[in-house]
Amino acid sequence: MRTVKILLIVAAVALLGGGSYARHHDSQSLVDQGAADGPLLLRGSQVQRGRYLTAAADCMACHTVPGGNDYAGGVAFELPFGTIYSSNLTADPETGLGGWTDDEFVAAVRSGRARGGQHLYPAHPYTSYAGMARNDVLAIKAYLDSLPPIKNVIPANTLSFPYSQRGLMVFWNALYQPAAGYTADGTHDADWNRGAYLANALGHCGECHTPRNGAYALKSAQALSGSIAQGWKAYDITASGLSHWTVADLDAYLATGHAPGHGSAAGPMKAVVAFDTAQLTVADRQALVHYLLAGRTADPVAAIVPRSVADPASTGAALYAGACSGCHDLAPSAVATDYGDLTGASTVLDPRGTNLLRLLVEGSPPGVGTGTPMPSFGVSYSAVERAALANYVLAQWGGLKPTLTANDAQAPLH
Ligand code: HEC
Ligand code: HEC
Ligand code: HEC
Repeated sequence: MRTVKILLIVAAVALLGGGSYARHHDSQSLVDQGAADGPLLLRGSQVQRGRYLTAAADCMACHTVPGGNDYAGGVAFELPFGTIYSSNLTADPETGLGGWTDDEFVAAVRSGRARGGQHLYPAHPYTSYAGMARNDVLAIKAYLDSLPPIKNVIPANTLSFPYSQRGLMVFWNALYQPAAGYTADGTHDADWNRGAYLANALGHCGECHTPRNGAYALKSAQALSGSIAQGWKAYDITASGLSHWTVADLDAYLATGHAPGHGSAAGPMKAVVAFDTAQLTVADRQALVHYLLAGRTADPVAAIVPRSVADPASTGAALYAGACSGCHDLAPSAVATDYGDLTGASTVLDPRGTNLLRLLVEGSPPGVGTGTPMPSFGVSYSAVERAALANYVLAQWGGLKPTLTANDAQAPLH
């Protein structure tokens, strides 16, 4: 009995102590801990700078429904415990951000605190945007304010209890929210700092490429080492993960969505290239590459080009000849466009075929990026056929002998 009482008291004290710490952290999280200006060398009016920064931060991908009005929100994010909808960022006073003050906007973007102090969910990546300089956030506001206001009522979130309680984010933030503001790292040169800012604060590459813990927080010790995002594998993009990439390869991939010997950007990465990295100035993209490759300029470790182990008499080979070879064919010299060359792509070297199976179901939609779109094979081909296709592609292009089944091919549908 006595021990129970003591335990209860200890728990109550921990809760109260933790609670007051969390509340203290909550108010501190709004205090700017960094410099007013970021490291990018920006030109033009505040609105022009804001337009560039909005692209570099890829606000578009999450706040615009495909085919809908720019930045009018309403994109659904389906999570295991319900659906969250992104907000309308246009200046409409009723359904958008019309009338928001500078401080309110900065608090929402960087600290996850909406108007009136309400807590946002980290589906809006404030844990990355925390690293943005205040004047850069204000330039983004100036740009968004310059666009036509669009009235668009956003559906209410449908989160189950207790996830529906925004106030609980106070505790999550106390553990995982970084301080707000930009600080240069004096141990590195100016290019590296610009690259780090483009990757981590603006480009939020880690939101997809960094693994998360059980509480959905990014594991900062394993930054950019690869994770799963929206059911797609976002590969290891640390300097060692990119050890086979030259400076020119990485620059081409981020500028065009394709690099010889590395395949093409599909899935969520196709939109990142189109709306973000392809829009960067040459100098900024070079800084991003410099940061990702940790300053390496020397030739990379040569990749071993796998030899085909595919069986030309298999069902997969026959399906490939009919459905795929028009765009991809079997040798780089025979493909219709650069985008059809699958040599060296991480997707054909992954024995689990994660992105390959997903691509076969979803295809690669038109309207984003420059490549020819890839059709979906989710309806016209059965799961058995998609598994046969995947096994063949991995054997032909990846030198692998996987045994993917209809079950594996079905899974990405859910
Ligand atoms: C990865 C997706 C994603 C990206 C990228 C993103 N947002 Fe969001 N944003 C969201 C979601 C989802 C919400 C709604 C969160 C909620 O309801 O808690 C949101 C909410 C907001 C809000 C709060 C609005 C309100 O009415 O409370 C603002 C302001 C905002 N975002 C601005 C931006 C800006 C500016 C950028 C680019 C710098 C950006 N967002 C990039 C997903 C994103
Ligand atoms: C919305 C999620 C998302 C974001 C944000 C994102 N990526 Fe990716 N990235 C992916 C996915 C998924 C793939 C795999 C694409 C494929 O299979 O074609 C990928 C692939 C890549 C690759 C190719 C790696 C390889 O081994 O083939 C590079 C390089 C890359 N991303 C760099 C970046 C950089 C730099 C940023 C930030 C500016 C970034 N990504 C932001 C999801 C994302
Ligand atoms: C109409 C042309 C077209 C057809 C047909 C087509 N693809 Fe693609 N595929 C593309 C394009 C274009 C890309 C590059 C991604 C992009 O630009 O959207 C691509 C990308 C890929 C990738 C690389 C993705 C990555 O993550 O690196 C694989 C693997 C692939 N396709 C396999 C197939 C298979 C298997 C078939 C047949 C079932 C097929 N494709 C049919 C056009 C096509």
